[in-house]
Amino acid sequence: MRILQFGATGQVSQAMIAAAPGRAALSVLSRAQVDLVDTAAVEAAIAGADCDLVLNCAAFTLVDRAEAEPEAARAANALAPAAMARACAARGLPLVHLSTDCVFDGTLDRPYREDDAPHPLSVYGATKLDGESAVLAWEKGVVLRISWVFSRFGRNFVRTMLQLGRSRDELRVVADQYGCPTDAAALADFILGAAARWVSAAPGDPAFGLFHFTNAGATSRHDLAAAALARDPLTRATLSPIAKRDFPEPAARPLNGALDNGRVSAVFGWQAEPWASAVARAADEIIAEGLDA
Ligand SMILES: NC(=O)c1ccc[n+]([C@@H]2O[C@H](COP(=O)([O-])OP(=O)(O)OC[C@H]3O[C@@H](n4cnc5c(N)ncnc54)[C@H](OP(=O)(O)O)[C@@H]3O)[C@@H](O)[C@H]2O)c1
Repeated sequence: MRILQFGATGQVSQAMIAAAPGRAALSVLSRAQVDLVDTAAVEAAIAGADCDLVLNCAAFTLVDRAEAEPEAARAANALAPAAMARACAARGLPLVHLSTDCVFDGTLDRPYREDDAPHPLSVYGATKLDGESAVLAWEKGVVLRISWVFSRFGRNFVRTMLQLGRSRDELRVVADQYGCPTDAAALADFILGAAARWVSAAPGDPAFGLFHFTNAGATSRHDLAAAALARDPLTRATLSPIAKRDFPEPAARPLNGALDNGRVSAVFGWQAEPWASAVARAADEIIAEGLDA
């Protein structure tokens, strides 16, 4: 299995790089090699690649900054995936792309399913939704919507809470915003396991299309922080719950971003691990490796 991966330094990119040996030959393209804003370079990279499948782990992920830089967000999150879809269609290659719960407005009172209507509240969410549409226009396109990604790699909420827990006496964390944490290592394991099916499946196979992929169960930002801090004997912070309205950010986020994993479970037989045990394991890894990675 030969996979061409856009993205080298991000959380999911690094989880793929760590998990691939022995399972797939991964060719990784960093921003220095192919900048997503250069759609001709994106298409040329796929046209000339020795690969069976293309995976896009790169994106403009700075949710707040996207409000001030909508064109940069659109280039990376909408135009680049469209170029990837064109180039993959020209060669008949499956394209696996990552999206977000931020395509939803969070007003539903249950976890979102793939057939629920999107309504993004932010530039980031709108550009990611456009990227989804472009990828899904290719009949061998796969979009995995993920949320609240954590891992031992890079910057993420779990690492930030662990860092702040050692430097502050009190942490005020939003308790009325809900989502499903996603373990980047589990996502990498799933992608590597499903790759053979995507490569061999014919158009129309249920393995293509839109899926929600997270760990099992939803939680609040506050309870996610508590689960991380509980692993650190050196934490000194007390957690205080606050309301989202008391933690304003430039970009609006869904108050309920929980995603229903039923489809990925039905089509692939994927058994999602409960978020709490996966977060505990990642927190232990971050603490063991040093909080400042
Ligand atoms: N993190 C989350 O909580 C979360 C939640 C929902 C969905 N997602 C989605 O999951 C995917 C992976 O996210 P992640 O957490 O792994 O992201 P991340 O850690 O923020 O990494 C983003 C990656 O994209 C690369 N990149 C950004 N702009 C680029 C450009 N113009 N050209 C080439 N590469 C560029 C970055 O490279 P540099 O290091 O050079 O900047 C980096 O490797 C994204 O599609 C994201 O939208 C993430």
